[in-house]
Amino acid sequence: MTDKLIIFDTTLRDGEQSPGASMTRDEKLRIARQLERLKVDVIEAGFAASSNGDFECVKSIAEVIKDSIICSLARANDRDISRAAEALKPANAGRLHLFLATSALHMEKKLRMTPDQVFEQAKLSVRFARNLMADIEFSPEDGYRSDPDFLCRVIEAVINEGATTINVPDTVGYAIPELYGNFIKNLRERIPNSDKAVWSVHCHNDLGMAVANSLAGVKIGGARQVECTINGLGERAGNCSLEEVVMAVKTRKDYFDLELGIDTQQILAASRLVSQTTGFVVQPNKAVVGANAFAHASGIHQDGVLKARDTYEIMRAEDVGWSANKIVLGKLSGRNAFKQRLQELGVAMESETDINNAFIKFKDLADRKSEIFDEDILALVSDESVTHSNEQYGFVSLSQHSETGERPQACVVFTVAGKEVKGQSDGNGPVDASLKAIETHVKSGAEMVLYSVNAISGSTESQGEVTVRLQNSGRVVNGVGSDPDIVVASAKAYLSALNKLQSKADRVAAQG
Ligand code: KIV
Ligand code: ZN
Repeated sequence: MTDKLIIFDTTLRDGEQSPGASMTRDEKLRIARQLERLKVDVIEAGFAASSNGDFECVKSIAEVIKDSIICSLARANDRDISRAAEALKPANAGRLHLFLATSALHMEKKLRMTPDQVFEQAKLSVRFARNLMADIEFSPEDGYRSDPDFLCRVIEAVINEGATTINVPDTVGYAIPELYGNFIKNLRERIPNSDKAVWSVHCHNDLGMAVANSLAGVKIGGARQVECTINGLGERAGNCSLEEVVMAVKTRKDYFDLELGIDTQQILAASRLVSQTTGFVVQPNKAVVGANAFAHASGIHQDGVLKARDTYEIMRAEDVGWSANKIVLGKLSGRNAFKQRLQELGVAMESETDINNAFIKFKDLADRKSEIFDEDILALVSDESVTHSNEQYGFVSLSQHSETGERPQACVVFTVAGKEVKGQSDGNGPVDASLKAIETHVKSGAEMVLYSVNAISGSTESQGEVTVRLQNSGRVVNGVGSDPDIVVASAKAYLSALNKLQSKADRVAAQG
């Protein structure tokens, strides 16, 4: 019988730890819904005890997502564990993920604990957790750099206490595939009760080997759970990338012989959503989800693919959600056609009001842009003003003048708590002038730490998608805006970021 490989997504926890990738509760909920459509087995929704905001995020996700197991990280102490269990109460299926460092370096320098103290704390924390929930994962942090004898002692004890999953993190991305695979194999062989738990891999990408190490942990080590993130998002060089690990196991089923529950056609939508939300752009040559991942530029390759697709293609673009840039709708399309296309694209709108708002924006866009692609629709629905008509700031209109040799001028009309105001300013360029025009009223004092523009469907006729990252009093937020006019897209992105900075609900959720 073929084994199943469990896909544990930690985009919303480990991924969010990446500086600048903080997400609001609504953004996390939107991503969680997409992860559910992708059919990931476990969603690590956050670290409930780390802040009230994270607690609320885990709780909201546990309330809404019903098909995936919802997990919260917790340090191995009673307070963290109780808080995580509380946040997970509404879940159909919940998991507590306990971690405690076991490497000599971490125990001595970070925890200032002896190995015996760590051993006792690991045991007692799992015992405590097991009284609250049946599904318990234990991670010896910095496990790969831990003394194997000590690790065997700790893991055997926590399995005896009822841990159901044992995760072996390569916390600092130090592993080499063959060595990591054998490390896990040896632990499983040496620990007498190792067959009572599912073994899991968790690899960071500091040396660019997170995916390779995870796959070696599966193939050589016998692990049956991989912890990963969409687009490989994560601290420093990131985590193991979900799309790469999933497509490797699917494409090379001949080698891995493992089953997956993932609906791979939802991969691209997940990648785009995470990229749009965090402002972390996907590099064009990124495997599976990069813009060039299925593009054949050389004549020899194009000729080969036209004659027989498998000459140069090992996966089908459609299988991961790519479809040819087709014109899906135009300005004569009606509300029903629009609603149906949203469904085909896997976009779940919560209310008829949201659909109506999105349809109005679609009509507005179709008036200005003759061809509307799937990418345009996805950008349109990720625009927060569609689903949040009651935001503090809302874009109304913009005019600007720029001419070679003259300083650009901009005038922006926008709403503040529903009331229209007008700001005017000059600037180094039209974008700078527009954002300064907004600031003449808002006076946020925020520092811009990122500004990026991306052409949604690849040509100058496409919409520009702008990401603005603002920082204020230690909080970092991302705003995204799209429009055929990139100056307007910039103003929308800026207002969206300002909305997040001032929102009380989000204040607790953001980093810092
Ligand atoms: O990298 C790591 O060690 C972690 C643990 C908390 C699992 O993220
Ligand atoms: Zn990690």
